[in-house]
Amino acid sequence: MKKLAVVSIAGALALGLGVIGTAPAHAQDAALTYKIYCSRCHGENGKGDGPDAGTLKTKPRNFTDCAAMSKIPDAIRFKAIKDGGAAVGLPNDMPAWSAGLDDDQIHALVTYISGFCKK
Ligand code: HEC
Repeated sequence: MKKLAVVSIAGALALGLGVIGTAPAHAQDAALTYKIYCSRCHGENGKGDGPDAGTLKTKPRNFTDCAAMSKIPDAIRFKAIKDGGAAVGLPNDMPAWSAGLDDDQIHALVTYISGFCKK
């Protein structure tokens, strides 16, 4: 009896963790991906003030500027990240990430970037 209870609790826990684990893990992934690949130009807080921003011909825009960011559809942001700035008429200072990131990761980044603008 006791053993069975322990097993079922463990099972329920594993199931619960599985369910809880998937969704936020992706958001966390995006935060980490952003930190590693994007923050050097776009800045930890999305203000366009990363350590490498000064070396670029084009200053990365301020992702916290809601008015400016609301004019850029998600599809364009997605394309800019995937295929690079030049693909959406921006300077090629913005690299393409299609080789390193899959579509799911890029979608997660689009969502993550939207979070910098706090209304
Ligand atoms: C080498 C510097 C650099 C890196 C690294 C970089 N970017 Fe950019 N990014 C830019 C520049 C410069 C632009 C063009 C100016 C602008 O729109 O901010 C840009 C533009 C963008 C845009 C388009 C915004 C718009 O105006 O339409 C998005 C979205 C974006 N970057 C996301 C990312 C993400 C996500 C990463 C990480 C995977 C990343 N960038 C990495 C420099 C960089």
